[in-house]
Formats: sequence, structure tokens, C-alpha cells
Amino acid sequence: MNRRNWLKNTALLTGGITMLPPAISRLQAAAKPVLSSNTVSDMTFAAGMPPDLKARLFANENPFGPSAKAKQAMTDSMGTSYQYQLTQVKELEEKICAFEGLDPKMIMTGSGSSPLLLGAALALLSKGGNVVTADPTYDDLPTRCEHINATWIKVPLTAEYKHDLDAMEKAINADTKLVYICNPNNPTGTIVDAEKLKSFCERVSKKVTVFVDEAYIDYLPDPQSTTLIGNAKKGQNIIVARTFSKLYGLAGMRVGYVIAQPEMISLLGNYAATGLFSLSAPAIAAALASYQDKTYMQDALQKMVKSKQYLYDVLKAEGYSYIPSNTNFVMFPLKMDGVRFTDEMMKRGVGLRHWKLNNAEWCRISIGRMDEMEAFAAAFKELS
Ligand SMILES: Cc1ncc(COP(=O)(O)O)c(C=O)c1O
Repeated sequence: MNRRNWLKNTALLTGGITMLPPAISRLQAAAKPVLSSNTVSDMTFAAGMPPDLKARLFANENPFGPSAKAKQAMTDSMGTSYQYQLTQVKELEEKICAFEGLDPKMIMTGSGSSPLLLGAALALLSKGGNVVTADPTYDDLPTRCEHINATWIKVPLTAEYKHDLDAMEKAINADTKLVYICNPNNPTGTIVDAEKLKSFCERVSKKVTVFVDEAYIDYLPDPQSTTLIGNAKKGQNIIVARTFSKLYGLAGMRVGYVIAQPEMISLLGNYAATGLFSLSAPAIAAALASYQDKTYMQDALQKMVKSKQYLYDVLKAEGYSYIPSNTNFVMFPLKMDGVRFTDEMMKRGVGLRHWKLNNAEWCRISIGRMDEMEAFAAAFKELS
């Protein structure tokens, strides 16, 4: 389950549905149910979330952000917040395009990448067809597709928990409208071989649009050698999504963008609210101030790596394995029921998420500050 459905369920379980007007309640009841592997645990988790969490390790946020420069820029932006931020949005888009060597017609910003994922689903699958993804992966875009009556073809990950690109290519059929690749993958934190992915996109994009979600790419040692933006530059039919919600530590500010061919950007603009009217003054200011701020990025990365190593040591000491992660979250197999585990951890003030994968129960833990990881360790030792 993605954050959107998880939050919706929070409202349902905390009694929010009883507050809805009857017509909306009827519409909700008629909506297609979202079937995803971790729905039950998330609902349980959301219902039991105490206000005084010791460790918020369920949403892959970056507690080492935002940068000092971003905070200052947000404060300074207040004076112009009576204006629509037309020139500032253009400035942000041009800054990103200058760094990537792109024509500014190839970018569209949005309030986070989520509305842009929705835009792609609506633009490409509203007349039906199917979307091919790995399983498990970030399920926001494919569940949106299911809601508009498209079909979701799920291709299991390899034994190393990576995208099985060969199997995904074979799964494409005449009705496929979109292939979605999340690299690095959420929830497993794994990456596919960059060169293999580039040649996959080069081949597949001749038949069907490929969407590459690079939300976590800033956590890799060399994002520029891994990104698929180069393929877009060559004119291929791919959409690359990025966000300021992860390493930049701006999840609450809501800034994301997609890179694609100008025609695709125009098409997406018909279905997703573009940044011009959906980005707030502080959000743009923060993104402008922190984009490619290497000093801040290195510092946040180092802190994350230290906390992740601490987690690995705790898991090993308690006799647990884990999937080595390229990101700010780690998946590890549980020795008890996932719902019970996340509930018990939540009672101890530690928010986590749980998945079912290969018929086993798994936990996904986001990497937090050291005090949060210590709170996790203390609670975990009581249960493991
Ligand atoms: C893989 C992936 N893509 C997209 C998003 C959406 O991020 P946002 O809307 O904050 O940009 C997330 C959020 O967790 C994510 O994990």
C-alpha cells in the first residue's frame, strides 16, 4: 500500500468516514478496492499510531533535512507569497535543466512526484490496457491504474530481490500502455544494473512508454551514472520522476518533477496539476536553495549511512538477516506475524511497516536519526 491509501485508511479507521456526507460515502463504498500485499498491516498500523512516537520509521523521510539554506529560503519567501510563483517555478525548472543539460520543454514540476505519477496513469491508461511492474514495488501508480479499470501485470523480483527485466519485457503484450520501474526499488532498496536498464529502456520504449521512478536515486554514490535522464535526452519515450521528498528532506514541502519528451510533458499537463499553479512559495524557495547542495547532501548521506550501519549491527546481533539496501530504508524478514510485530513496536512508540513477500513476513524500516534507531533497537530486543 502506498502513502495515499494508507492515509485514507487512517481516516476510515479513526472514524473519519462517519463524518463524510452520504453521497461521498456512497462513492467511496463503490470505489474499486485496493488489493495490495500490506493493506492489512498498514490499516492496523495507522489505527494504532500514538501521537508521541519515539521513532518515525515508516515513510522513508529524511530527518537530517531540510538544509539550513532551505529553511532560510523558506522564511525569506514569505514576502512574495501573495503572488503566484510563475517566475520562480520557471527558475527552478531551468536550474534543474541546466544541471542535467536538458531543454526546459522536457520538465514538468508538481507538488511532489505523486501527482505526476497520477497524471501518467490517467494520461496513458484511462482508455484501458495494462501496466507492467515488478512485484513488490511502489504501488501508487499501478493502483491508480486499477482504479481507472486498467490491468496491473505484476512480475516477481529475482532471487536477489531486484527487477527481473527479462521477465518484465516478456510480460509486455499488445495491451501494455506503460512499464513502471522503481529504481532504486521501494520497498526492497535494491537497484538494477544501470547499463542493463538503459538498454532495456532503449528497446522497450520503441513499443511502449517506460516510467522510471528515481525517488531514491540521490542515495546512490553516483546518481548521474545511474539515472535514465540520458535516455530521455536521446529522444526515447521514457518518463523519469524525481522528488525533493527524500534526500533533500522536503517531503512536507511537496516538490517533484518529471523529465520526458516535450510532447509527453504537454500530454501529462492535461492530467496533472503543473508546478506553475501548484507549488507554494516556500516549497519552490526550499527546492531552489537545496538543489545539488553537495555539502548538505553529503552530510545527510553520512548521517544516514551511520544510522543504517547501526541497524545492520542490531539485526545481526539479534540473529536477523536483511536485504542490503542502496537507500534510506531496509527490509528484513520477521520471525513473527507482521501485523503483530508492527502493532507491538507501535505500542513501544516505534512506527514501522510490514510486507508479505515470497509467503514470508517482512518489515520495512526507514533510516532515522540515531536516537530513533536506538529506540527501535530497545523495542526490537524485547520482541526478537
Ligand atoms: C518510489 C516512490 N515514488 C514516489 C513517491 C512519492 O513521493 P512524493 O510525492 O513525496 O514526491 C514515493 C514516496 O514515498 C516513493 O517511495
